Amino acid sequence: MKGKFITFEGCEGVGKSTQIRLLQAYMDERGIEYYMTREPGGSSISEQIRAVILDGKNAEMTDECEALLYSASRVQLLSEVIKPRLDAGELVFCDRYVDSSLAYQGYARGLGVEFVERINDYALREFTPDLTVFLDLDPSKAFMRKGGADKTDRLEQSGMSFHEKVYKGYKELSKKYANRYLVIDASGSKMQTHHKIISALKEKGVF
Ligand code: TYD
Repeated sequence: MKGKFITFEGCEGVGKSTQIRLLQAYMDERGIEYYMTREPGGSSISEQIRAVILDGKNAEMTDECEALLYSASRVQLLSEVIKPRLDAGELVFCDRYVDSSLAYQGYARGLGVEFVERINDYALREFTPDLTVFLDLDPSKAFMRKGGADKTDRLEQSGMSFHEKVYKGYKELSKKYANRYLVIDASGSKMQTHHKIISALKEKGVF
């Protein structure tokens, strides 16, 4: 039996971590079994790659190098953690996955979504999520809620226009991959968003 693979996506500061925590609490209370991981990271090698990518001192990193490091981190996590668990029939969640690369590196960094798709298809062998929960909130509103960008995080230092491009990228992806995208309006309160996520996942028969 193959398990279910569900990813979370969204721009910086949309409350993704909070929503993942609320979802975990919901599942824990009901005894629903799952495995939660994150990108970039989630395995020892992938966490080391994450540290290189996100290090504010690595300002000279090229966009191509960044995109390849993300896919390298992803393929390691996939082989080591995600695939074996899905093969065992588990419910696996991942905080960010290939769509982050398509939105950030493909659309926002300007590498082109086709190029990023190509390197990821090579790495992942077209391994796509069953469902993608996209927290839909314009980054300008998200940053206001968060109270500004983190100065030690190389990616969060990129300007607002970069984040607007990421957001546009996600909107395109949600149309292109409408069959697996669950677009969740994240402009309301955190509990409103939480309830929307639960209903959407229930509707898809996840639990
Ligand atoms: P993280 O601190 O985990 O951010 P968040 O809480 O927003 O998920 O840092 C992940 C950063 O990496 C985030 O800015 C998005 C970016 N990213 C990419 O640019 N491409 C990718 O493929 C992935 C997985 C993440």
